[in-house]
Amino acid sequence: MPGASKELPSGAKPQIVSGVPNEFSPALDLVLTALEQMRERGEKLPRASRISLTQLHRPIVAELPSRAAHPDKAALLAPIRTRVAVCVKCPHLAASRTQTVFGVGNPDAELMFIGEAPGADEDARGEPFVGRAGQLLTKIIETMGFSRAEVYIANVLKCRPDMPQGSSGNRPPTPAEMQTCLPYLAEQIAIIQPKVLVALGATAVEGLLGTRSTMREMRGKWHSHQETPLMITYHPSYLLRNQAPSEKRKVWEDMLQVLERIGRPITEKQRNYFR
Ligand code: URA
Repeated sequence: MPGASKELPSGAKPQIVSGVPNEFSPALDLVLTALEQMRERGEKLPRASRISLTQLHRPIVAELPSRAAHPDKAALLAPIRTRVAVCVKCPHLAASRTQTVFGVGNPDAELMFIGEAPGADEDARGEPFVGRAGQLLTKIIETMGFSRAEVYIANVLKCRPDMPQGSSGNRPPTPAEMQTCLPYLAEQIAIIQPKVLVALGATAVEGLLGTRSTMREMRGKWHSHQETPLMITYHPSYLLRNQAPSEKRKVWEDMLQVLERIGRPITEKQRNYFR
């Protein structure tokens, strides 16, 4: 594509992938967005299957060198956020949402939390985990010794699952909604490359591992998502429903394991919380 770099949007910076300037990445993202929109509108030409779209994405993400080596992960996440913001792959969710909820925090985080889907508060604010469950998650993060801005927080679904008119609650995402949305999360994880992933609740586990089992069975143990260590723990909304100190302690023990795995020092006080 000789001369293609001249057609990049003004202000677009060449991106570095594996130490090689990849000035085509921003252009590729524009092409991908246009192709996805054409496919969603049912237009026949040019044809782009989901497999070929995935293959187009792969060179950008899969060639990233080892953790933290990329100088500007925020720049890699930005075009994905843009694609998510205009996504209409689930037309019913695109129609009902206020906005998409991409993710928040440090693009170079060592620790990444994955939840289920935005609720009403998150849909209104455009940020994951800002409602009651989110406030509890923030407390857990801070008790671990991190600030909310130091870690990264995202959901399996980027849209709030729609509810029948007049009803205020939440519903879990359907398997089809999760399958449709998961490629975005996969890209986020591949770019951030956290040292440890934490799945909050069974829906996040289903999204990440493709398996469903009881939380009692799965939590507190190390699992693996594409070679990244994955800790499974209860969703903070479970702790809001069940205030027993024993349940808080279980989540806390899971977080102590996470701190150990990341190599963070743990104080005696931290070890004894919720005992
Ligand atoms: N619950 C989730 O799983 N995610 C949010 O963002 C908020 C509540």
